[in-house]
Amino acid sequence: MTLNPVRIGRALRRRALRLTPFLDLKIRYDALDRPQFAYGIYHAALQAKALGYEAMSALEFGVAGGNGLIAMERVAAEIGARLGLRIEVYGFDTGAGMPPAVDHRDAPFIWRAGQFRMDFDALAQRLATARLVIDDVEAGIKTFAETMKPAPIGFISFDMDYYSSTKKALALCERNHDLFLPRAFFYFDDIVGDDSELHCEFIGELLAIREFNDTHADMKIASIHGLASKRAIPDHWHVKTFVHHRFAHPRYCDFVGAKADWQMPLQTASSRSRSWRPV
Ligand SMILES: C[S@@+](CC[C@H](N)C(=O)[O-])C[C@H]1O[C@@H](n2cnc3c(N)ncnc32)[C@H](O)[C@@H]1O
Repeated sequence: MTLNPVRIGRALRRRALRLTPFLDLKIRYDALDRPQFAYGIYHAALQAKALGYEAMSALEFGVAGGNGLIAMERVAAEIGARLGLRIEVYGFDTGAGMPPAVDHRDAPFIWRAGQFRMDFDALAQRLATARLVIDDVEAGIKTFAETMKPAPIGFISFDMDYYSSTKKALALCERNHDLFLPRAFFYFDDIVGDDSELHCEFIGELLAIREFNDTHADMKIASIHGLASKRAIPDHWHVKTFVHHRFAHPRYCDFVGAKADWQMPLQTASSRSRSWRPV
């Protein structure tokens, strides 16, 4: 077994920070399981609170055995309890594993039909509140949007591997604005991989993102410029994290900044010397 310093560091930080009451610290130092979920769910939840929503949804496209969905449920429960926001969790999967690849854009040199089957009963027993939508994702998003009455979506993890499945999942964005927060956080798991996967913008999830942006003038899926430079712990989830901007959402322009009356008065020599602090 090889020792991975990032994993060891994260395990130590998680242990050290587990008891801190400061959720912001846990998010900042990746102390929650699956920090890629924690970052997006936390910042979507802050946005939802600032806009006065009472609830939001977090989705996982591609559940497989369910380890990710269980982690998402835990992260959502902790963040929701701390911020006073109800966070619903939904998982989408065929239940029978990967469908057949449609063509080269699904990168069948990486994934094969039948991989990642779910043990539905075992997973259902472990889930506390998350709801499963077992179907091909094209039908699944229809059931979800039309019959499940979900709270507005604040976070989605895309982990269906294929271009074709991701494109079908992204069709959810064409539903009404009230199904989404104005800026929902999107995490794409399959755009960084090992040296045989060779992800690029001409296949897989990256192609689905590019086509989405090329065909939607009033909404985009954009990376968060400079995210990696602001994070304390280097990790590959920074380049896999995007925001779905819905420019025509009726709440897109509502102010959510921390300081409503932010001023920067001209400093005088004496106020400059008073405000000096050791770095
Ligand atoms: C890599 S696995 C997901 C792993 C999981 N997110 C985790 O972290 O443990 C990919 C999953 O996507 C599902 N999937 C792929 N294409 C799909 C489609 N068109 N409809 C529904 N599920 C699909 C497969 O069944 C498979 O379980």
